[in-house]
Amino acid sequence: MTALSVSTIPVASLPVDCIVIGAAKSTKGPVPAPGAEAVAEAFDGALAELLGTLGVTGAEGEVAKLPAPAGIRARLVLTVGLGDAANNNEEYDAETLRRAAGVAARTLAGTGTVALALPARTAEAVEAVAVGGLLGAYAFTAYRTTDHAAAPVRELAILANRVGRTDAEAAVRRAGVLGQELNRARDLVNTPANDLHPESFAAAVVSAGQEYGLAVEVLDEEAFAAGAFGGILGVGQGSARPPRLVRIAHTHPEAKASLAYVGKGITYDSGGISLKPVGANEIMKRDMAGAAAVFAAVLAVARLDLRVNVTGWLALAENMPSGSAVRPGDVLRMYGGRTVEVLNTDAEGRLVLADALVRAGEERPDAIVDVATLTAAMRFGLGNHLFGTMSNDDAFRDRVLAAASRAGERAWPMPLPAELRGSLDSRVADLANLGERMGGGLVAGLFLQEFVPAGTPWAHLDIAGPAFHEGEPNGYTPNGGTGCAVRTLVRLAQDTATGGHDGP
Ligand code: BES
Ligand code: MN
Ligand code: ZN
Repeated sequence: MTALSVSTIPVASLPVDCIVIGAAKSTKGPVPAPGAEAVAEAFDGALAELLGTLGVTGAEGEVAKLPAPAGIRARLVLTVGLGDAANNNEEYDAETLRRAAGVAARTLAGTGTVALALPARTAEAVEAVAVGGLLGAYAFTAYRTTDHAAAPVRELAILANRVGRTDAEAAVRRAGVLGQELNRARDLVNTPANDLHPESFAAAVVSAGQEYGLAVEVLDEEAFAAGAFGGILGVGQGSARPPRLVRIAHTHPEAKASLAYVGKGITYDSGGISLKPVGANEIMKRDMAGAAAVFAAVLAVARLDLRVNVTGWLALAENMPSGSAVRPGDVLRMYGGRTVEVLNTDAEGRLVLADALVRAGEERPDAIVDVATLTAAMRFGLGNHLFGTMSNDDAFRDRVLAAASRAGERAWPMPLPAELRGSLDSRVADLANLGERMGGGLVAGLFLQEFVPAGTPWAHLDIAGPAFHEGEPNGYTPNGGTGCAVRTLVRLAQDTATGGHDGP
């Protein structure tokens, strides 16, 4: 795994393989960004012109490799585009820095040591560069038996000459925790369902809980039967791999608020008896991305020792068709006693989440957030880059949206129209798991809302689109699992811990 460090050594004498500098767009062509001064000097002031000759424009995502000039110890200089140049006293925004660092780290795979001399004049900017670098260096190689691609950068040094050493080190430490945990979520999403199933997922939580000193509790089939967790049991009953509900808790002695994070963890979603067609089922190992995000976020919160209590609930099941599978028309008795008629076994996420939401709600947290790859409808509505954010409380929803935006994630508010609720009425049970097709993402949100305790602020993040990136890598986003929602959940816990808002 890529190691992060802070460096305050003068750039010219850094003993690294490559120095990364920013190149920005200006009306006069490409210009080296702040942080690049020493490198520019070694080029005798001819760097901007050289970049122009090479066709560099400074556009975001652009990279150029140059042999380092005499007077620089490193052998290679990489420029990475930052887009429009910021004014002298203006900082580059955190997301621009994350992406630039991510592009650099990915481009430099195969390089041993890299120094990131990007414009980082505040602790927040240093953290952004470090997070972007660590996320961009990520590669999923667990199943490669040949040297398929160059190894990730071994060491990333963040140059922080303008930030005090203590502040810079604290920022890089935070970035290390966040980046490592987010990459853990990506690994879980990328792991195929023949290796990641409810039991092995639960075992991974137990082992991480032991490593970092968090309380972990695993409910199995016996506990489900005794406790009448009909949703999780019903969805899991068709699989040879039994379901689990995992509770992982971070508690802080001085916490003044508590959050419950609930994740959909369908380790494989075949659709069940309402089987998905070819084209829809081969991508369904990703259907546990919500649980992976919750797991990673709780670990990050614990490792950062945030002054807030955060409990993660992972609703883990494999949705398979078999002689023992739940059938369309079956009625399940959910945890808490409500009954649900299963009209479509492919609407399974809401069934496992309903049990988990009721169980999480019993502990009376100040707020609940669930995260789920819940509906194809949300992908049609918002595409693959934004997640939909629904809530029973506008102020809480705005806090979640603010946390997402600050953390560099694209979240968008979606409504829970009361007009759609009636479509979830069942002829035989309290509720049906299928309602109106139009606005299917919102209907799913309305279903979940039924299982949230009245008066508890709750937000539902439908990450069906952005949980997985199917195209070529960009910025710090690789192909495959993205780690979507981890940064939002961690930022929300940070905001809650520091009371940077009204209410819980
Ligand atoms: N896991 C899927 C949603 C999904 C689709 C996630 C594509 C990621 C990519 C979910 O369980 C599902 O099958 N939803 C159905 C619900 C429908 C039957 C009401 C859907 O959205 O089609
Ligand atoms: Mn499904
Ligand atoms: Zn699903």
